[in-house]
Amino acid sequence: MEKIVIKGGVPLAGEVQVSGAKNSALPLLFATLLAKGESEISNVPVLRDINTAVKLLRELGAEVEAEGGCYRIDSDKIKSIEASYDLVKTMRASVLVLGPLLARFGQARVSLPGGCAIGARPINLHLKGLEALGAKIVLEHGYVEATTDRLRGAKICFDFPTVGGTENLLMAAALAEGETVLENAAREPEIVQLAEALNSMGAKIAGAGTAVIHIQGVESLNPLKCRVIPDRIEAGTFMIAAAITAGNVLIHHAVSEDQEALISKLIEAGATIHPEGDGLRVIGPKQVTPVDIRTSVFPGFPTDMQAQFMALMTRAEGTSQISETVFENRFMHVCELQRMGADIRIDGHSAIIRGVRQMTGAPVMATDLRASASLILAGLAAENTTEISRIYHLDRGYEKIEQKLSALGAKIWREQE
Ligand code: EPZ
Repeated sequence: MEKIVIKGGVPLAGEVQVSGAKNSALPLLFATLLAKGESEISNVPVLRDINTAVKLLRELGAEVEAEGGCYRIDSDKIKSIEASYDLVKTMRASVLVLGPLLARFGQARVSLPGGCAIGARPINLHLKGLEALGAKIVLEHGYVEATTDRLRGAKICFDFPTVGGTENLLMAAALAEGETVLENAAREPEIVQLAEALNSMGAKIAGAGTAVIHIQGVESLNPLKCRVIPDRIEAGTFMIAAAITAGNVLIHHAVSEDQEALISKLIEAGATIHPEGDGLRVIGPKQVTPVDIRTSVFPGFPTDMQAQFMALMTRAEGTSQISETVFENRFMHVCELQRMGADIRIDGHSAIIRGVRQMTGAPVMATDLRASASLILAGLAAENTTEISRIYHLDRGYEKIEQKLSALGAKIWREQE
């Protein structure tokens, strides 16, 4: 097993490139199942989750070739409609094959994902939406067995603006007969890219990025050719890396429109942030001002930035409160930050953070993807050495993060445990 070692205290300086967005690349890869022929997706990040998605596509019978960040997927010869438990349990986004397989082949057998570190994360809203489109859904032996003669458009109102549910239903409705309306749909930039990609394949989707999306079903779709948008969560993580080390960093391809909530909170915390060239310049404050945040769906403060922001608040001059409203168990990083000297108290879905003058490096353990990033950020600012184990969590969603941080002056490296 590998660990990451950090000698903290270096103000980061220089320029960093943001990679393609994991949470956009994944639905795009699965959208290629909707069309015969060869699709091409570029700017795909090198990540464990991408490798898992490619493994699933190959198990279904697609031919996949990758060269650098460019993936060619030929979905002509799909020979299976099953996503196995072994695969789905390693990456829950595998459930995004449900919509495409049902829409194109009229059947799908997908393992229920089960819970994960940050919460139960059911897919009931995905299944309710697919049933509304006419799919017959049977749950047995831990699998979703979905069948349909032909999906028919319907009006679907999500109880919660689920990102994955919106993505599954967009892909299913694209080939359904008639019109589908998704109400209370997710509005994330990754949803917008998926809708644009589907439209470039011949779909008729309007309203993506708003809470109401209209989809006119079509008979068939053409292969996809697109470039993955920059990863706003990776960009946000580097913004906090600059802020927490009182650094000065230019983050190429950081898109301010996708980060308004985070940017305004970082400015409130004392950072200076302004557009420069093709990205954003972030200058960290000497003193961090405490700021309360409450996570919510886009365009609110992203839950995927909550752990990273908490690392910043551990150094604030005062007390801040962080409320997590999207997932029920997304404070796994708290006890690890406490090992580094953070003063944090959990009260239900809220954490109260009393800033300390200096955190101290310690051996800590990653528990999930964004918690890993939070520990790296705390280690960058802490005195002496931090060692982070179980970094396979980190490799799911951050491409070459220690190389990128080293290039900004951080003393960070990977070694065997
Ligand atoms: C996507 O997960 C992201 N993953 C997550 O990023 C992100 O945290 C999340 O959206 C919220 O923004 C990918 O895009 C691959 P949801 P998803 O469906 O689609 C509940 C990361 O760190 N819910 O919007 O699973 C659910 O339990 C990952 O990159 C239901 O109850 O998120 C959760 O509490 C972590 N029933 C909330 O909604 C459902 O059918 C949000 O889930 C679906 C969801």
